[in-house]
Amino acid sequence: MASNYDVAIIGAGAAGMMAAFTAGRRGKSVIVLDHAKAPGEKIRISGGGRCNFTNIHATPKNYISQNPHFAKSALARYTPSDFIAMVDRHKIAWHEKTLGQLFCDDSAKDIIRMLLEEMRAVHVDLKLSCEISELEKGPDGFRLSTSEGPILATSLVMASGGKSIPKMGATGFAYRIAEQFSLPVTETRPALVPLTLEPNLLGELSELSGVAVDADVACGKTRFHEALLFTHRGLSGPSILQISSYWREGDEILLSLQPETDFVELLKAAKRENGRQQVQTVLAQHLPKRLAQYLAETAKLERPLADLPDKALSSLSERIRRWPIKPAGSEGYRTAEVTLGGVDTDALDSRSMQAKTVPGLYFIGECVDVTGWLGGYNFQWAWASGHAAGEAV
Ligand code: FDA
Repeated sequence: MASNYDVAIIGAGAAGMMAAFTAGRRGKSVIVLDHAKAPGEKIRISGGGRCNFTNIHATPKNYISQNPHFAKSALARYTPSDFIAMVDRHKIAWHEKTLGQLFCDDSAKDIIRMLLEEMRAVHVDLKLSCEISELEKGPDGFRLSTSEGPILATSLVMASGGKSIPKMGATGFAYRIAEQFSLPVTETRPALVPLTLEPNLLGELSELSGVAVDADVACGKTRFHEALLFTHRGLSGPSILQISSYWREGDEILLSLQPETDFVELLKAAKRENGRQQVQTVLAQHLPKRLAQYLAETAKLERPLADLPDKALSSLSERIRRWPIKPAGSEGYRTAEVTLGGVDTDALDSRSMQAKTVPGLYFIGECVDVTGWLGGYNFQWAWASGHAAGEAV
């Protein structure tokens, strides 16, 4: 005999848990199934263990999708303030770090505990280490064959996330289910991911591994101004993760290091005031020492300023202000924070997240073709889309 529920949710991540207690509060009987041993594993590791759970500046402009209007409805109906109110109700201390990013003071586990408490309060059933082998729609609803036995549910919510970090159990299962029901899935690719460099350039930059610098990074018309980190594989840091969602193979990115500093003026003034100073010494007052040394060395300008024509100082400054780099690739799903693309929003109703052609089937969170910037936007999408489905099922 199958266990009967109003709603079955696949995935006990951010979106799935939000949808579960939202539906539960409406009196629906809900079961959440996850093949992982613990719920909310990505929440646990997020934000360096402190979970950047939302961004107070979140607007639809912070999301990438083939249909930029799709996210508007859900985001408007469940805002960062709504989530903050729940966090406050659970007495979880939080702080704003930068750029509207909110983090837990103590631990990301507080957020998981809060979501589990909300589910418990409305009697949501949670089955972990549960494998779903088959799933079909019949006249009486969705029939799931699982390692916990057969389950029958009137509505099915796919909240199984994207492909990022397969080591943590990411499967792309939602895309397979979309295809099973003939729903389109847009091209998926790793996003918010470090970029790699070809071996020659990597060798040249090897001495910079571990150096972080404030930078403006542009790809085409898109630019982000945040920290950049040189790594032993290539480039990382918030500005690179952000641009990686827009970068495509073959594209060049343009780095502007410490963009608020006028290096031409700085070097010329230093030359006037004390021409015996070395270029790298002056640069090191505004850039990390190893980077200053590298820039002076590769420009072959490791000399006192008085020995250098202004033209040489201008071209060095131009290099710092406009440094083109062609990444070779990205670190891929192994380290990507999210998956770009997913279930085509054309196939979903933007108010409820329900598939237009399959009544009762919903897709929420990362598996949908809505991808946020770095900085709490992806969780805000998980909460908002989870809430939209939870209100509709
Ligand atoms: P999520 O991936 O969270 O949950 C999916 C669930 O489905 C998982 O529990 C999984 O086990 C389960 N599942 C998958 N396949 C299954 C199957 N076949 N059967 C059963 N269950 C299955 N975002 C942000 O806003 N702020 C932040 O600080 C961070 N930090 C961060 C750090 C790192 C290292 C990563 C990898 C990602 C982030 N993110 C983030 C992104 C954020 O984690 C992500 O956007 C959300 O977790 C997406 O929530 P979902 O609920 O859609 O999927």
